[in-house]
Amino acid sequence: MDAMFNLRGGALRVEDVPLQAVAERFGTPTYVYSRAALTGAYRAFESAFADALGQVPSRPAGAPAPLVCYAVKANPNLAILNLFARMGSGFDIVSAGELARVVAAGGDPSRVVFSGVGKSAEELKLALEAGILCFNIESIPELHRLERVAGELGKVAPVSIRVNPDVNPNTHPYITTGLNENKFGVNHADALGLYRAARGCRHLRITGIDCHIGSQITEIAPYADALERILELVDLLAAEGIVLEHVDLGGGLGIRYSDECPPSVDDYAATITRVFGNRPQRLVFEPGRLMVGNAGLLLTRVEYLKPGPVKNFAIVDAAMNDLMRPALYEAYHEVLPVVPRTGDAQWYDVVGPVCESGDWLARNRALVIAEGDLLAIASAGAYGMSMSSNYNTRPRAAEVMIDGADMHEVRARERIEQLFEGESLLP
Ligand code: LLP
Repeated sequence: MDAMFNLRGGALRVEDVPLQAVAERFGTPTYVYSRAALTGAYRAFESAFADALGQVPSRPAGAPAPLVCYAVKANPNLAILNLFARMGSGFDIVSAGELARVVAAGGDPSRVVFSGVGKSAEELKLALEAGILCFNIESIPELHRLERVAGELGKVAPVSIRVNPDVNPNTHPYITTGLNENKFGVNHADALGLYRAARGCRHLRITGIDCHIGSQITEIAPYADALERILELVDLLAAEGIVLEHVDLGGGLGIRYSDECPPSVDDYAATITRVFGNRPQRLVFEPGRLMVGNAGLLLTRVEYLKPGPVKNFAIVDAAMNDLMRPALYEAYHEVLPVVPRTGDAQWYDVVGPVCESGDWLARNRALVIAEGDLLAIASAGAYGMSMSSNYNTRPRAAEVMIDGADMHEVRARERIEQLFEGESLLP
């Protein structure tokens, strides 16, 4: 967890606010974010690249600064998007919904890249009208669809081809994306053909190249390999007269959930800039998890302690519908009592009220807890709220942003009536 989460005065705090105060005011389960941690993560990324690029010999004068396009899917709360927008961030979107959020949060569409394998004609149209920076194209039919839609609007669409560098990032199979067997991107071998096809399209303008090899990556070598493979293409394209303006390396840099040792942003920046050298293109990145993952936690209360013949269960008021990463990926999230007790620890599975055996948040944890205690499920800022659902007709959690000693409710807890508002009975 980020340093903005600390144990002071006998209770876990986010910045200067004890978590009991959050629970008292907003109830549980509640996602709690730290403004300082979010700002710090963004600034660290930006300054790591400024430093590393500053040391590249003979970097062309006036070479553009890298563009960070925060991956909205990691956490799309408007307050978070707005914080990043205020620091100059761009955004990586994958739907018209995410584009609408960026605009509503004051983000600049001209700093938006649009990724995803299934962009609808309507989504392409909305993004063209908004004037986004680039469409990251993932297939030939998508290229043709964009050419048609741009033609209908009398516009020229800026495009980049998402290339699959076929490197293995050694992460969970569900979040590996850059292998030939994945549905994403275009094979390295086919990429030139796509660029040639794009060059022949009147309503497309080739501006870049991109890749995204996976998520929660904890090694640096796959990035260096991927970038080398991409740069080979940049050179081949240049030889054909196709000169690119940007190279987008996607996101994926991992964070620490338990004992992982992901590369620091400084090492990452140093490696990327070493491989990239003094090329004139603008570097673009699409980090999601790294920006928000350790800047948020899920606050929950113990409803019951249920001893069993094989294991003990701590049944809490958050569930797989609030945080599905454990159920989906067997992901590990640290569990921290908000007010630690002394005494003999017991082994617990921390589970939710949802009617599924897969509804667990943590397994085999030694905890000293009692009914009514508050627990913090750590490192839940990324892919927590954004993947939540209303399964079991459970209202989604509230979201609260801590800023120093202040608490801001940045999303109200859903009300039960809202959940079936759009439904109707048969006549
Ligand atoms: N760019 C593209 C094209 C992506 O598909 C993704 C994530 C990102 C950027 C941001 O990746 P990040 O920096 O956050 O790793 N739900 C999973 C993670 C899925 C990631 C999907 N794509 C999880 O909870 O671990």
